[in-house]
Amino acid sequence: MKRITKAVFPVAGMGSRFLPATKASPKEMMAVVDKPLIQYAVEEAVAAGITDMVFITGRNKRAIEDHFDTAYEVEAELAAHGKYELLRAVHDVIPKHVNCIYIRQHGALGLGHAVLCAQPVVQNEPFAVILADDLIDAEPPVIKQMVDVFATHQCSVLGVQEVPREQTGQYGIVSTTNLAPSLEQVHGLVEKPRPEDAPSTLAVVGRYILTPRIFHHLAQVQAGDGGEIRLTDGIATLLQEEKLLAYRFSGTRYDCGSKLGYLKAQVAFGLMHADLREEFAAYLATLQ
Ligand code: UTP
Repeated sequence: MKRITKAVFPVAGMGSRFLPATKASPKEMMAVVDKPLIQYAVEEAVAAGITDMVFITGRNKRAIEDHFDTAYEVEAELAAHGKYELLRAVHDVIPKHVNCIYIRQHGALGLGHAVLCAQPVVQNEPFAVILADDLIDAEPPVIKQMVDVFATHQCSVLGVQEVPREQTGQYGIVSTTNLAPSLEQVHGLVEKPRPEDAPSTLAVVGRYILTPRIFHHLAQVQAGDGGEIRLTDGIATLLQEEKLLAYRFSGTRYDCGSKLGYLKAQVAFGLMHADLREEFAAYLATLQ
């Protein structure tokens, strides 16, 4: 029985939809209330028992390495001023037993290429992939739900959710047969089909459990439209060789790669924040 101990975080994209905010700092460091997106993603992996965090970074991404490192000066300042709650927030960004590993992607050649960059560290083990810009409010966290599915089935698992048919062109869309409540067997996967061509409205979002055989397939993928090596293309050929499941996770997803999704996340997480929720709710009520 294999266990998932490694999570890959592709954080080397251009983040062009958020320019100029992402001109000099990474999209994954944008905060929802008081925590950067990448911290929510890492906390989700930690909650699933994952201990090795593999970040695929690119230009302008050093802030991510600094975020998960010790900040001696900040900590000393906070301690000197007796700000112990903030000190804990800074100090406890990542538990001591967790390793952070950084691999540089030399150019934004696509999500599939970013995942392939993790091969030297992941080697011959199944692993999780988490896209930090898909922020999902769920209990238990989605990757934990999917690790549990993997523990039973020992095969690749895609996190999926229903989307409106007019949005199929923004996602990888699966064709499936139902196996159990929330669990589907995948027969096909197409990238960004037009609504009239989409085989279903079940979309792959930013959570994956993959077997290491994916690396073999990603290495064969030719760049598609826009010159990107797509993860979807690698998974589509993996599917011809191995069993592949789609898991309808429970949770609310915010697409923080888009401005509207990011704003919705701010509102939802603001309304859940212990220190803010009452005043924030009162403020929002004044806007109606
Ligand atoms: P997106 O498709 O959201 O692309 O990538 P992007 O570049 O981040 O944003 P836009 O579309 O230009 O606004 C999905 C995830 O894959 C990562 C991104 O960092 C993001 O987490 N990615 C994408 C890479 O790590 N490398 C790539 O070459 C492409």
